[in-house]
Amino acid sequence: MDIADDAAIYQIDDHMAIVITLDFFTPIVDDPFAYGAIAAANSLSDIYAMGARPILALNVAALPKKLPIEIGAEIIRGGASKAREAGIPIVGGHTIQDEEPKYGLVAVGMVHPQQLIRKRGAQPGDVLLLSKPLGAGVITTGLMRDSATHAEIAAVTEGMLMLNRRASELALAHHVHAMTDVTGFGLLGHGWEIAEQSEVGFVIEFDALPWYPGAKRLGEAWTFPGGAFDNKLFYGPHATLDPSLEEWEHMLCFGPETSGGLLMAFAPEDAKSVQEAARDQGVQLWVIGRVVDEQGILVVR
Ligand code: CO
Ligand code: CO
Repeated sequence: MDIADDAAIYQIDDHMAIVITLDFFTPIVDDPFAYGAIAAANSLSDIYAMGARPILALNVAALPKKLPIEIGAEIIRGGASKAREAGIPIVGGHTIQDEEPKYGLVAVGMVHPQQLIRKRGAQPGDVLLLSKPLGAGVITTGLMRDSATHAEIAAVTEGMLMLNRRASELALAHHVHAMTDVTGFGLLGHGWEIAEQSEVGFVIEFDALPWYPGAKRLGEAWTFPGGAFDNKLFYGPHATLDPSLEEWEHMLCFGPETSGGLLMAFAPEDAKSVQEAARDQGVQLWVIGRVVDEQGILVVR
């Protein structure tokens, strides 16, 4: 039992630790197959964020009695297909009846204890990289309020479906110092977790942040999910945002993500080499800021 990380760790011996995590949520897209696959990618993300390799998973599902059986099956099939892509079996699980569907995985991974990547470990001078665009929360809220376009929904769905596997493998190969996945607490919440545990601060460049298409439009129209306001309340005291940024731009930074990217801290020379390797492999990584001595998170233009 240590400070909070992306998953629980149980060390078997000097050479092996198991990493265990559980995540599930209510539907965020209309397509049941995509919903199941996104929920699975999101659950596996915590394994990748620890620098571990997933080995198996269990289904956790709650399905309404009135939901047609084919739709429930599509959700589970979506999860199974994402597990297959990750190279792991789903070996069991549990389903109950509930008013609103819920789905996710218990995911189990393995890692050499010396290879574990924690939130603690970022060092002043490090470069911050992010492996997926931001804004999933505003766009899925736009979807619920009928104000997101088909193209915007398609783009964010594709992003949320992506496994963090290749980004994690690249991070490990290039000596990442600290890493976490950006999910419900948003960029500033999860960023703060790394900064606090590493006893450092972040300077994030707003204009360098990658956004899903439509995120800024919906943000400007104030299409924020409730979680964005909770995040602002909770993490706002640790963040200083450039006064030249609009209020909606502040809120965007606090927006919750689903199946978001890995936020990673690298020494400057490793940041260069990992970006080169990512380019060669067709993996997208964005430089979004740097690590500094002064505690707290500063978002600048
Ligand atoms: Co996580
Ligand atoms: Co999680």
